[in-house]
Amino acid sequence: MRVKECLVWARERLAQSCERPVLEAELLLAHHMQKERVFLHMYEDKEVQNFEGFESLVLRRAAHEPYEYIVNKASFYDIELYVEHGVLIPRPETELLIDHVSRIIEEKGINRIVEIGVGSGAISIVLARKFPHLKIIATDICDIPLKVATRNIEQFGLQGQITLLKSNLMDEIKEDVQLVVSNPPYIAEDFVLEPNVADYEPKEALFGGKVGDELLKQIILDVQKRGIACLACEMGYDQKAPLQAFANETGVQTIDFYQDLAGFDRGFILLNKGEK
Ligand SMILES: C[S@@+](CC[C@H](N)C(=O)[O-])C[C@H]1O[C@@H](n2cnc3c(N)ncnc32)[C@H](O)[C@@H]1O
Repeated sequence: MRVKECLVWARERLAQSCERPVLEAELLLAHHMQKERVFLHMYEDKEVQNFEGFESLVLRRAAHEPYEYIVNKASFYDIELYVEHGVLIPRPETELLIDHVSRIIEEKGINRIVEIGVGSGAISIVLARKFPHLKIIATDICDIPLKVATRNIEQFGLQGQITLLKSNLMDEIKEDVQLVVSNPPYIAEDFVLEPNVADYEPKEALFGGKVGDELLKQIILDVQKRGIACLACEMGYDQKAPLQAFANETGVQTIDFYQDLAGFDRGFILLNKGEK
């Protein structure tokens, strides 16, 4: 089949499962042919080699598998990361967490931080690139994220700045740090997710417990117990009130919530007593 015929075939297969079947057909064919998308428009009569290979990519996408798992890469902030099944695909809303944390790192002159739940390495890698003086210890409880984060950290040559540790939350961390950042699992266990998420992304990265905010609350307690000055977390759109109440009960100094670009509550910055 020629390029233009492949595109027509693919977009018909993708029409039910994708919001933008024309674009995704082009992205998958460009990936299959190891070319830029513009090549497809310049050479629409070119014969496509190994149609079966392309067909299998399109059928995976038609079955709702996320594009990022099919091509093994995801864009985040100013970088592209390797991803595979078993690791969360980094989300655009998490870029806001980076901006909030960056402001605190600058204002307070922070140089030692922990990330809980490193996943692909998205947050730690972007922060390490922005702040070359920063030392980061990043934990995860699962092996695949630790393997994928290792690969991405090496890809960017950041082994000197980021240390990975298999740990439940911060349990294995002995060092003193000034700030903790986390995008932990925060979805309630009975929440019904879209098939592209529910059927493909790791449960350990999504569900935070029966209510959803259990790990967030545990992180708040751990940070307080260790006397760590700052905590910055992403959270669910409906978790502001319970987390505000919990923070008040535990006697933190301040907790400021931020919203995402759609206006939903999406995260918080918490300062412990004694911090300004
Ligand atoms: C929502 S994902 C975030 C991944 C990455 N930081 C990002 O923003 O794309 C949460 C990560 O936390 C890890 N995780 C879940 N429970 C954990 C725990 N108790 N301790 C440490 N990591 C945990 C999961 O394996 C997953 O990689």
